[in-house]
Amino acid sequence: MADVRDRWAAGATYEAFMGRWSRQLAPQFVAWLQIPGRVHWLDVGCGTGALTTAICRYADPASVVGCDPADPFIEYARRHSQDIRASFVVAGAGGLPRRADGYGSVTSLLALNFLPDPAAAVREMRSRTAAHGMVSACVWDYGGRMEFLRYFWDAVAAVDATAQALDEGVRFPLCRPTALTDVFCAGGLRDVRCEPIEIPTVFASFDDYWQPLLGGTGPAPSYVTSLDADRCTTLARTLDQALPRGPGGTIPLRARAWAVRGTVP
Ligand SMILES: C[S@@+](CC[C@H](N)C(=O)[O-])C[C@H]1O[C@@H](n2cnc3c(N)ncnc32)[C@H](O)[C@@H]1O
Repeated sequence: MADVRDRWAAGATYEAFMGRWSRQLAPQFVAWLQIPGRVHWLDVGCGTGALTTAICRYADPASVVGCDPADPFIEYARRHSQDIRASFVVAGAGGLPRRADGYGSVTSLLALNFLPDPAAAVREMRSRTAAHGMVSACVWDYGGRMEFLRYFWDAVAAVDATAQALDEGVRFPLCRPTALTDVFCAGGLRDVRCEPIEIPTVFASFDDYWQPLLGGTGPAPSYVTSLDADRCTTLARTLDQALPRGPGGTIPLRARAWAVRGTVP
């Protein structure tokens, strides 16, 4: 069952909040995977389609199936995909799509930590992968250098002592190299590697940072929409004071992700 802290409600608001950064991260992740062309891919927790799009653009796939249990995201992905090699289905961990000969690459961007049982999901991803194929995932470094969410949850902690358990750095101990490597090794994968990928996340203004948090899709926006007007204003003010400023009032931050991959024996 979906976690009420994580509402995946609408494609457009997700794009404004996180999809714009997923779309920058995805090409780097695809390049890091080094999968040869003409391979069949499965993208687990595809959301609005950032990774599927990057696979089509940069990996010369035979096909890509994107799957996600959130109907509005699949609908958004279908509407915005123009590549005949890409298809999208409403399906999630526990019922991942199958391919008769297995997929050559089963992957997932920014979703593994949101699955109800990540270890079981890695085993299931492996079961959908052909012999010698690759299983991979990429997640934000929530406890460390995912700076725009780190500033957010640190500001929340400063104004709301009851919200500590919502902090994604606390919720997702999986999102560290050792834990990711362990879960891939325990899932029966070989030659497991976990490395950082970093992207700049530069916000044009405080408004550019804050407005997407009002969209109600994803953990941080779900928290913001739970606040009354006064607490919302206090949080906005705390963040405005804490965030660094660059030239022209920009907010120049960086976001680090951990990419992990392993091969099926
Ligand atoms: C942070 S979003 C990432 C979406 C997309 N991959 C991206 O990079 O923008 C997390 C995704 O995990 C999906 N998700 C949640 N539970 C899931 C499950 N049980 N199986 C597969 N995906 C799931 C959500 O619907 C959401 O689309």
